[in-house]
Amino acid sequence: MKIMVVGGGGREHAIIKKLKENKRVSEIFALPGNGGMASDATLVPIGAKEIDKIRDFALKEKIDYAVVAPDDPLVLGCVDALEAVGVKCFGPRACAAIIEGSKVFSKNLMKKYSIPTASYEVFDNADEALRYIESCPIPTVIKADGLALGKGVIIATDRDMAREAVNSIMNDKKFGESGNKIVVEEFLTGPEVSVLAFTDGTTVVPMVSSMDHKRAYDNDEGLNTGGMGTVAPNPYYTEAISKECMQTIFLPTIRAMKNEGREFRGCLYFGLMLTAKGPRVIEYNCRFGDPETQVVLPLLQSDLLDIMMATTDGKLAECEVKFANEAACCVIMASSGYPEAYKKGYEIKIDDKVLDSVYVAGAALECGKLVTSGGRVLGVSATAPTLAEAIKSAYSKVEKISFEGAFYRKDIGKKAMMAMEDEI
Ligand code: AMP
Ligand code: GLY
Repeated sequence: MKIMVVGGGGREHAIIKKLKENKRVSEIFALPGNGGMASDATLVPIGAKEIDKIRDFALKEKIDYAVVAPDDPLVLGCVDALEAVGVKCFGPRACAAIIEGSKVFSKNLMKKYSIPTASYEVFDNADEALRYIESCPIPTVIKADGLALGKGVIIATDRDMAREAVNSIMNDKKFGESGNKIVVEEFLTGPEVSVLAFTDGTTVVPMVSSMDHKRAYDNDEGLNTGGMGTVAPNPYYTEAISKECMQTIFLPTIRAMKNEGREFRGCLYFGLMLTAKGPRVIEYNCRFGDPETQVVLPLLQSDLLDIMMATTDGKLAECEVKFANEAACCVIMASSGYPEAYKKGYEIKIDDKVLDSVYVAGAALECGKLVTSGGRVLGVSATAPTLAEAIKSAYSKVEKISFEGAFYRKDIGKKAMMAMEDEI
């Protein structure tokens, strides 16, 4: 089978490596992929948002199955375009991807179907929003409606910050059209959990839970990033909580989307906060998380391609989805300066012994050498019977990789380990 994976980061690399385990797969194309994936996939210089070119390529190469991984092409209708010419796909159509593409849509969906989330107000007028934040409880959370490269959420700890957030999103259009509307919502507290789930629109199968580390530096200091590391499973996410989430969040969401005529097929990402009053949805993503995928897929024992195709065909209930009863840790190595300005073009050296555990996100091949080309350069994952061992193993692999200006958090998994000790 000829497979095509749309996207070019560490998440896509993890998906590609897992798909390769299936013997029926003869070739995988990555659009555009990145230089660090060259030994796992054929790189095709077509951007993830170039929907027409993606469709034409799929037809020309007679692609048997396409996986559309990032949010942008999903929201732009990449799956719709491919399906229209008969290419089977993993991922939701645009009408369902809106669950991530519009926070106003997802908040209204949750309200309509009583799915637990933070209380909120929607504004399409900056003056009204500014009036509201003069008297709303502080801290408050201000979210741009549309996609904003993961930067559209501002936690305002005082009214000045809240005013600035409203002005920059709605008046200065910091995120362009994505800021035409905003959601202002209640500030919640509690441990955060990421749960990715396969769904064919009717059946929902949650994967092993995980914990992201979003801040740039140790002890959750520094700016928010795309994610500096992950561990799985997330110790806060107990069996009892997972049962509760299935009943109050996962199934109601899938049914709500179907009821709205927006059946969701693909991977639905539930960003949850475990508050004192119970689990609440912080966000939905219409795709696999990054870097959650880099810890979740290494623990998957069943065949990823079989599961994906069952999802597409509405046969997920008949498919085995089994995860190892182990733990995983992924440490992201980033370019000095990330998430702000950073330099590119430094040679990356990776010891052959750890190559299998490396998921490359931001690298390019220049004259046969792999060089840095992004903020988050790569992720290094390890699995082991216990979380402590997985963390130790991931960090020992990090030692075998180098590039100038590399930095990484030294405390990935520390919070999870502390949570486990508290339980004992
Ligand atoms: P999002 O892009 O929606 O995932 O938001 C980014 C981060 O902002 C989340 O991972 C949370 O840490 C935080 N966040 C979002 N909404 C809230 C909320 N209502 N209360 C507290 N923190 C939040
Ligand atoms: N790790 C957060 C995300 O994928 O959105």
